[in-house]
Amino acid sequence: MLKILVLGSAAGGGYPQWNCNCETCRGRRDNSINSIDRTQSSIAVSSDNINWLLINASPDIGQQLRDRKELQPGRSLRDTGITAVMLMDSQIDHTTGLLSLREHNTRLPLYCTQMVHNDLTSGFPVLNMLEHYCGVDWHKIDIDEQWFAIPGIENIEFRPLVIDSKAPPYSPHRTDPHPGDNIAITIRDTQTGKTVFYSPGLGGLQDRTRQIMADVDCLMVDGTTWTNDEMQTRGVGNKLASEMGHLQQSGDGGMIEELSNLDCRKILIHINNTNPILDPDSVERTTLKDHGIEVAEDGMQIEL
Ligand code: MLT
Ligand code: MN
Ligand code: ZN
Repeated sequence: MLKILVLGSAAGGGYPQWNCNCETCRGRRDNSINSIDRTQSSIAVSSDNINWLLINASPDIGQQLRDRKELQPGRSLRDTGITAVMLMDSQIDHTTGLLSLREHNTRLPLYCTQMVHNDLTSGFPVLNMLEHYCGVDWHKIDIDEQWFAIPGIENIEFRPLVIDSKAPPYSPHRTDPHPGDNIAITIRDTQTGKTVFYSPGLGGLQDRTRQIMADVDCLMVDGTTWTNDEMQTRGVGNKLASEMGHLQQSGDGGMIEELSNLDCRKILIHINNTNPILDPDSVERTTLKDHGIEVAEDGMQIEL
C-alpha cells in the first residue's frame, strides 16, 4: 500500500513564523483562533513502512523526525528510515534540511534535476559542503516525463513534470527561468496502480499539468496563499504570490476553480502563515470544505 506521511505542511517560514505578528500568526500565539502549528513543507513516501523517500528536506527536519518516530526503524546503532531524498526545487524551505542529514552513515542518495543541482552547487553550495560530511550520490531527474524507480523504495515509481514556478531568490538565474527549476511528481504504486500528484510550488497550470492532475487518485498541491496579493493585504510584504511562483486559491483561475472539476482526493499543502485557511473556523476554510478540498496537517497520513 502506498503511504504518504506529511512531515511539514507550511510554506517557507512555517506557522506561526518566528518574526511574524500577522493576524493568523498572532491568532495562533494568543489562541484567538483554533489553528495548529505547522512545520515547513516536506513529505515522506513508502510502501513498506520501513524504507522512506523523503521529498524535500525542510529546515524543520530535526523536529519532524523527532515527531515521526516511524522514520527511525532502529535496526542498528546509527540508522534511519530515509532511504533516499528527492527535491522538487532548490528553495530554502525544501533544501536546507540536507545540512541536518550530514551524519548519514553512507553517501546520501539524492534525486533532483540538473537546474536544482546547479543551484545547490553555486548560489547555495550545500552539496559541495556535504562532501566534507556524508556526501551525496546525485541521481539526475531527467525532465522527460519518464517513469523511474528508486533502489530501496519498493513497488513505487515516479514521473517528473516540469511546472511553472520560480527559481529561489538566491539562484543565479532567479529572473531567467529554465525547465527543471521546479518539478511536480506523480507517485504510483506499481501493485495497485494508485497515484498521487505532489506539487507544493505550482505557479500556474498548463494543459499538460491539468491532464496529469485529472488522472490521479490524490492531489497534494500548492496551498500557499488565498489571494495573489495576500502578503500586501496582511501588511507583511510587497510580493505577489505569482511573483514567488505560487497560484492563489480564490478567484478566477485560482486553485479552487482549477480543482473544481476533478473528483479525486484534493489536499492543499505548503500553506503560508498569512493564509486565512489556517483558521479552521474561517469562511475561507468553509469554502474549501464546500469544494471538497482538504488542508494538510503535520503528521497527516494518506494511504492509497
Ligand atoms: C516559496 O515557496 O516561495 C519559498 O519557500 C519562499 C521562501 O523560501 O522564503
Ligand atoms: Mn516554499
Ligand atoms: Zn504571519
